[in-house]
Amino acid sequence: MSLWTWKDPGQGALPLRYEPGNWGDILKGEWLCHWLAHWSAEQLVYRDPFCGRPDYPLTQSTADRLEGCPAPLYRRHVNQRLPSSASLVQLEASRLGLTVQAQLSDREGAPDWDIPCQLLLFDPYDFFEHWRDWQKTLEEACQHSSVLVYLYNKSPRGVGQFRNYQELRKSFAPQTPWIGRVAADAQLPRAYHEVWLMGRWRSGPLEKALRQASLDLHLYLAAMGAWQT
Ligand SMILES: C[S@@+](CC[C@H](N)C(=O)[O-])C[C@H]1O[C@@H](n2cnc3c(N)ncnc32)[C@H](O)[C@@H]1O
Repeated sequence: MSLWTWKDPGQGALPLRYEPGNWGDILKGEWLCHWLAHWSAEQLVYRDPFCGRPDYPLTQSTADRLEGCPAPLYRRHVNQRLPSSASLVQLEASRLGLTVQAQLSDREGAPDWDIPCQLLLFDPYDFFEHWRDWQKTLEEACQHSSVLVYLYNKSPRGVGQFRNYQELRKSFAPQTPWIGRVAADAQLPRAYHEVWLMGRWRSGPLEKALRQASLDLHLYLAAMGAWQT
């Protein structure tokens, strides 16, 4: 039986709207590590405007989820605590010998949006609902940055949500995002976790690595949902 719990009491009083280390965090973390592995310069300007905390408690359900799951690059950096993406990028970059200049904040205040970065992680909680507010900013960012977006795709919940998703996809079609998608839960997939990569520095080898990482995680989750004893 799967040990996944949707709401983990171990989160305690943390004011979070999701469980750190959910399948989306795992996919996003694995993609970030692959992106870094394919970055050819020695320095990187990384922007994370919704960075959250530096790290999170490692709950039992997250530890269980990570055990044996095919996300070797992300798992390497999980010990007693679960790193945020900003911490993960720093840890994996150090391992690779890269120097990172990180621009971190946890609100979308405008002042430094104009500072160019090479990798932008864009993962507010509510992109699925408020993507129109961000479309122009992201289109512009794609001109000079790699843009990695996390999306909690609620399409399985009904026609209205699916239509919203279709409109979102159509609006970003000119950016030709690469999209990795896994079910939010093996037994009760009420949503999908998606990670998109748009913008600059998208190479063939990177595409191959991201596709394989997404497929591995998808198949692992599908197998967990397909058979239970
Ligand atoms: C999914 S979490 C980001 C996690 C982090 N980037 C990571 O990968 O570890 C979303 C974050 O965005 C922030 N956030 C979401 N919507 C926001 C808003 N409208 N204004 C300010 N911050 C927001 C929340 O505080 C939260 O830390």
